[in-house]
Formats: sequence, C-alpha cells, structure tokens
Amino acid sequence: MRSSLLVIWLLCIISVSAQENLPKDYLSAGFHKGRRDELRKRMPENSVVAIFAYPERVFSRDVSYTYHPNPDLYYFSGYKEAESMLLIFKEDQKIGDKTFNEVFFVRQRNPMEEVWTGRRLGVEGVKKQLGFQEVYNSGEFKNFSLDLSKYNLIYDRMPDDIGAGMLSSLMKSFKEKGNVKEPASKPLMGAYSAIRNTTPQSLSRRVNQIKGMIANSGDEVLKNDPIVNELINKPDSVTLVSVQQKLKSYNFPSEDYNRLVAGLREIKTPEELALLRKSSFLSAVAHAEVMKAIQPNMSETELHGLFMYVHKKYGAEDEGYPPIVGAGGNGCILHYTENNATKLNNQLVLMDVGAEYHGYSADVTRTVPANGKFTPEQKAIYDLVYQAQEEVFKLCKEGTPFRDLNIRTTEVLTEGLLKLGIIKQKSEVSLYYIHGVSHHLGLDVHDKSITPTLKENMVITVEPGIYIPKGSACDQKWWDIGVRIEDDVIIGKTSCENISAAAPRKSEDVEKAAAKKSVVNDMVLPAMK
Ligand code: GLY
Ligand code: MN
Ligand code: MN
Repeated sequence: MRSSLLVIWLLCIISVSAQENLPKDYLSAGFHKGRRDELRKRMPENSVVAIFAYPERVFSRDVSYTYHPNPDLYYFSGYKEAESMLLIFKEDQKIGDKTFNEVFFVRQRNPMEEVWTGRRLGVEGVKKQLGFQEVYNSGEFKNFSLDLSKYNLIYDRMPDDIGAGMLSSLMKSFKEKGNVKEPASKPLMGAYSAIRNTTPQSLSRRVNQIKGMIANSGDEVLKNDPIVNELINKPDSVTLVSVQQKLKSYNFPSEDYNRLVAGLREIKTPEELALLRKSSFLSAVAHAEVMKAIQPNMSETELHGLFMYVHKKYGAEDEGYPPIVGAGGNGCILHYTENNATKLNNQLVLMDVGAEYHGYSADVTRTVPANGKFTPEQKAIYDLVYQAQEEVFKLCKEGTPFRDLNIRTTEVLTEGLLKLGIIKQKSEVSLYYIHGVSHHLGLDVHDKSITPTLKENMVITVEPGIYIPKGSACDQKWWDIGVRIEDDVIIGKTSCENISAAAPRKSEDVEKAAAKKSVVNDMVLPAMK
C-alpha cells in the first residue's frame, strides 16, 4: 500500500477533508475559554501557567496505546492531541504589534502521517474550532521570542521518561527560556520540595522524613547534596532559613499548579454536569442490562464484553478505568482486572465498570448473584453495605467535611459486622473494609480536589464495600463474599442527586432485575474448535 502513490494521494484528500456525523454534545469552546479566564483570575501576579500534553506510549513495536490526553490540557483547551503546550499568562503580553494572554503550540499537520494515524486539527483547526488566537506549530516554540525567566512559572511535574521527540523538545525549550534550574534528580526534587514547605515546628519531623528518603531511594545525588546535608547535620531554625534561601534560586514544579487547577476542577460547571450525568446514566444502564443477562454458565469476560457493547451503543469513547468483573473470591481483589474466569457458577459477581463519555468518567459498582438469588449470607453482607451507602448519602451535601463520609461508613459497617459475628472487636473492621468510601469524579476517575469540605456541584462517588476472602478469621460461610455498591452523586446545598440510579441497588431490586430475560441470552454463536 505504501508504494501506491495514487492510493496515498487519495487517502491524503480523505484525511484533510472534514469529518462528518460527529457527536454534538462536546464541551463548547466557550466552556474552555471560561475555564482559562477563571484560572487567570486566580493566578498570582506576573505568572504563567504551562500545561503540556501527555506523552504517547508504545504498545508493541509500531503500535501505540490508545492516546489519553492530559485532562488538564483538555479542560483548559478542548485539545486532545499529543506534542503540544499551552501557555496561559496572568496579564496581557505585548510582542511587536500583538497583544495576547495565551499562546498555544500544537501538533503540526502532516497529511502523509494523518493517512496512517488520523486527522489533526493543526494551527488553523485550533483557531477555528477551539477559538484560540495565538496558535503555532510546536516546532516553532524553540525560536519563539519569549523570555519566560521574568515570570513566576507554574507547571506540573513532568514525566522524565518521554525520550526524544517534540514533547521533549517543548519541555527543553520551556526550561531554557524560563531559566529553570531543577534539582538534579527526582528524589532530590522531593527533598527540596519538602524543605521548602518546612517550618521550625515541623523541622525535626521533616529531617527524619528526608533521612528516610535518602535510605529508601538509594539516590546518590540526594545522599551527597550539600544543601540537604547542611540541614541534616545541623537541624536548627537558623540553618533552615539559610537552606530555604539557597533553594530560592531553584525553579521547579510548584504546589501552586495543583492548588489552582484542582481548585477549579473540583467544582463542576453545568456543561460538565451534563456530561457526567450522561456517563453515569449510560454506565448504570449497562449494569441493569448485565443484571438481566447474568447466568451461572457465563464467563467474566463475556459480562465485560456486554458492558462494552452498551457503552459503545451510547457513544461512549472509552472506559474510565480498567473494568472489574470478579466472581466469588475475585470480587475480594480490589483492582481485579483479569476478568477471565470461564464460569461464574453460583457466586456473587462484583462489577465495577464505568464508561468515559466525552472525557468524563463514571464509576459504578454493582454486586449481583450469578444465579439471580442472594444466599442468606450474601444478602446479610449486601444489605449492610447498602445501609452504609444510604447513611453516607444523607451526609452528601454542602458543608460536610469529606472525612466524615468515611467515619460514618466505618461506624455502620463496624456495628453490622459485630452483629453478624464476623468481627469480635471494633478495630477488626479494617480487615474487611479496606478502602475509602469516596473520591471526586470528573475527567479523571479519581479526580483532582483540594477542598476538604463538600461544596455544591462537586461530584463524588459513594462506595462502601466489604470483602471477606477465603481464609479470613471468621466462619467459613462468609468466605469469598465481596460486595461493593458504588454510585455517583452531585453534591447539592441540602442533599445530593444520585446520577447512577438507573442501576438497581436494593437487594430485592437486584434480584428482580436478574430474573428478567435479556436478548443476549438468545444469542448463540458457533462453537469454537
Ligand atoms: N473504579 C475505581 C474506584 O472505584 O475507585
Ligand atoms: Mn470509585
Ligand atoms: Mn469503582
């Protein structure tokens, strides 16, 4: 095919023509601009926020993993391609006769490449579709006249294993133009960052922490660093002031980046809520469909596939995270992703599967008996987890400290497990309830957040769970029961909205759903030899 010029020419024409029949409900250019304007309001004076694309990763030889954009870059621009960098300035900048407060360096168009790897927006597409004014090819940044050293640079930690290529070149030029002086190793950067945030009160704790870092990292650069050693050898407040002064000449990823970006992303706008409602709804419908189809002779893989079908039927591009479909003991492995047991048999099946729709992830778990009927032990655990979830829902409103959700979950589960005789004392709850009950949800399944208290239009999960693997210190009748129920809620002023409620949740409703028939059960494929 490569040798046929005619075919290449034809394909080039196809690649540069506009794509039709696309979804109409993506975030708007106005949304992304609004986010940049809000960021600018919160940025310190004379600062610039730099956001880089995530690197592309190779799956096998010349096959890449599905590219996942940096959610921050997508949030502030709508751009989903690699090899790019967005600079957002606090104040208006003047270069020659141009005034601007943002510059975007994007991946260059290349019709020959696009025939193989897909369409690119390019400079003109980014101007037209995403509404940016100052847009250049990434390759132009190196010689772009911009002295970044006079700004307070705010940027995220960058991966250090991206090899050569355009992204690496963008980062290199950024550091050169910004006169960025980074510590010579990652562990040293961690130690400098810790020292920068040390107060006289936290000094002795910090010094012990840094000694631990030296021992655990085995990093020679950190071990031999004169600034670090100065503080370790004489850990008093005078030395602290002296070393902190020396660190002023270093410029490295700042806590400001996370504070600013997480502070915005943790509160969802109406456009984001609309997408989160869609991704949670369609994921919940997939769970309801799987409940109808589930049978003891099905495999974990087959159920996994049915989820994927329903997600795609609704137009979801991807999964928010690797799906978990675990029967029996597999449901007790928190991040079980093999999903390869060939028979569910009469076991409970824990399914934690959520779609990603236009970038926004759902995160939904249901636990269903494969034969459609809970055993008394399974039902006892299930109903206890359900009760914990109901109690936490009551706290899901503005003003609740985030940590209270977990405190309440632990209380309910502890009391229940004591009553069932599964634990003998309160502290043993941690044997069976082993994760937190909530996290934020958005462009990332574990979304960024910074505020320790719930606020209106935050979106979080509520996901209590109990896991009793084989060999646990309780009656064997409880073994291999793993139950999690997970829903996605929008925090309101006085209550919350469950946006994944389309999946049955009460044990009775789960059994009713499982008693239904699914068209999937009638699909018989030829036997595989
Ligand atoms: N699915 C990942 C989680 O529940 O946090
Ligand atoms: Mn979750
Ligand atoms: Mn989950």
